[in-house]
Amino acid sequence: YHQGFWIAEFLFRSTISAQRNFVAHEDDIILASCPKSGTTWLKALVFSIVNRTRFAPTDSPLLKVNPHDLVPFLESPSRIFEKIVFDQPRLFSTHMPHQLLSLSIKTSDSKIVYISRNPMDQFISYWFYTCKFPNDPNAEPVDLEDFFDKFCRGIHNSGPFWDHVLGYWKASLERPHKILFLKYEELKKDIGFNIKRLAKFLGFPFSEEEERRGVVEEISTLCSFEKMKNFDVNKNGHWTLGISNSLFFRKGEVGDWKNFLTPSMVERMEKLLQEKFGEHNLTFELPDL
Ligand code: A3P
Repeated sequence: YHQGFWIAEFLFRSTISAQRNFVAHEDDIILASCPKSGTTWLKALVFSIVNRTRFAPTDSPLLKVNPHDLVPFLESPSRIFEKIVFDQPRLFSTHMPHQLLSLSIKTSDSKIVYISRNPMDQFISYWFYTCKFPNDPNAEPVDLEDFFDKFCRGIHNSGPFWDHVLGYWKASLERPHKILFLKYEELKKDIGFNIKRLAKFLGFPFSEEEERRGVVEEISTLCSFEKMKNFDVNKNGHWTLGISNSLFFRKGEVGDWKNFLTPSMVERMEKLLQEKFGEHNLTFELPDL
């Protein structure tokens, strides 16, 4: 527990080190998220957007490399700068809350893209992930009720969820040219629009000619859940800590929580959403609510 946030034990020291020491370059791009909000998708999209003149879609490194190996976590203890293959601009990702980002990130002209997701889907995704992590067949099952209660009380990796999201939400309102706040649900609804929005925000807008050639559609297809899930590297490969890449591709839908949360859980979550986000005008589209 550090300055109001829960941090995974193995990331504790490196997170504090990143908070104190990470020096941002003016053209760095930092992709931030609470775990299970669409980080993998965002990494694939931004990598494809900024590198689109280097690689044709048929030649994209994404076909062979998991997005987490292309865009390293800035607070990861195993982060090795030399491993960053394509460094103009540098791409990083982080689960650190805005409140803990280094001063250098906050004061530089580097850009931040935050992806958020409605907490019900994020929670269910996180529950599944935790049940499988770290691929130990003998791991104890994770009790849904207990996990839910802790989540609501903010006790989970990178939590409290509410403070994590609000930190970036408020910062994005204050500095819209520095921080772009995305919602998973909006990307699902209109990926083409959001790819263009991302490209423009990052300073890599699509030319009319590119749009005519269908480059936006190529990127959206390449990074789609159905495509990425089936790349051999994502089906059979492994990321650090022995995590199967396949764990990052489960269902990729909006509203799967309906299959798992009880009515009283939904009620508790709705209350929390109103209590925490209501006054900040932050809402998530929840189907059938
Ligand atoms: P589900 O568990 O609901 O399927 P993260 O990348 O932050 O770890 O989040 C993982 C969630 O994003 C999982 O959600 C996963 O299936 C989904 N996801 C991964 N790649 C995706 C893609 N290309 N498009 C849409 N969703 C994707």
